[in-house]
Amino acid sequence: MADISLDTQMGNFKFTNPILNAAGVRDADSTQLNTIINSWAGGVVTKSATMKPREGNPEPRMKGLPHGCINSMGLPNHGIDYYLDYAIKNEGKNNKQVILSIAGLSIDENIQLLKKIQDSDYQGLVEMNLSCPNIDGETQIAYDFDSVEAILNQAFEFFTKPLGIKLPPYLDFYQFDSIAKVLNKYPITYVNAINTIGNGLVVNPETEQTLIKPKGGFGGISGEYIKPTALANVRALRLRLNPEIKIIGTGGIHTGEDVFEHILCGADAVQIGTYFGFDDTPVFEKVTKELLAIMARKGYTSLDDFRGKLKVLD
Ligand SMILES: Cc1cc2nc3c(=O)[nH]c(=O)nc-3n(C[C@H](O)[C@H](O)[C@H](O)COP(=O)(O)O)c2cc1C
Repeated sequence: MADISLDTQMGNFKFTNPILNAAGVRDADSTQLNTIINSWAGGVVTKSATMKPREGNPEPRMKGLPHGCINSMGLPNHGIDYYLDYAIKNEGKNNKQVILSIAGLSIDENIQLLKKIQDSDYQGLVEMNLSCPNIDGETQIAYDFDSVEAILNQAFEFFTKPLGIKLPPYLDFYQFDSIAKVLNKYPITYVNAINTIGNGLVVNPETEQTLIKPKGGFGGISGEYIKPTALANVRALRLRLNPEIKIIGTGGIHTGEDVFEHILCGADAVQIGTYFGFDDTPVFEKVTKELLAIMARKGYTSLDDFRGKLKVLD
């Protein structure tokens, strides 16, 4: 399999493996982030940072399910200074890119975060999470297309570094059309589809209780349950976004076949959240080897051989 390349490109950044971790799982501090850099993962994504450190929501706030998980973490994180410092020091280490994830709780906070990054020495990729479903009283910004436009308008007045946008799952063609129309106006490096399917509810029929405490038990659903929605978002966005805007496919990945499907739908790279949480760093080696085996079986030598080439039935 030595002649198979997994190289992929996002903006000026080259990845030798398209399989990354997803923001928010085992990436909260430098020890965890270093573990990812030293694994088979193609890069490292930091926990989404807010301006100030946050404790997050009361526990229990995450529960594993037979095919995924429900969580309402509420963005527990060490604050932007911590992750920015890590990103500056580790960008390019082991030939791997850092993706610095940020999640302001308001339009203003996102702009403040971007200003801080713009004024810093960090030159790497930034992923702005406009899709966190787990903050009590806050809406997911990217369901409001005017708010997305307002943020991007303000951001691109001063922000000159490579910017990706993490999107929530969209379920209707009207939403695919609307978000693509907004995003296509800006020099965005990539979009990441999708965050969890927000505000699901899982109940325990024995105890007649919710599984998690925050927000009355409502939480983001991830893992295998969400793969069809993730694939639909990757595909629908690939068909609508300018070709310069790359796509990271996230949602339900735990095998090489899942990665293959995401790339077939148009993903340039992928991220693994829930199953990285379940299986730790061995998941990156396992999934990479499975992807290589599929490519070898099909005679593909690069991701370009099948990226976006999904066939639809006549
Ligand atoms: C426990 C947990 C925490 C998460 N925290 C974040 C976060 O801080 N920022 C973010 O952009 N996404 C966050 N996510 C969403 C994941 O990055 C990912 O988009 C989602 O879980 C779907 O991928 P998966 O099916 O591989 O888990 C979190 C997900 C989980 C399960």
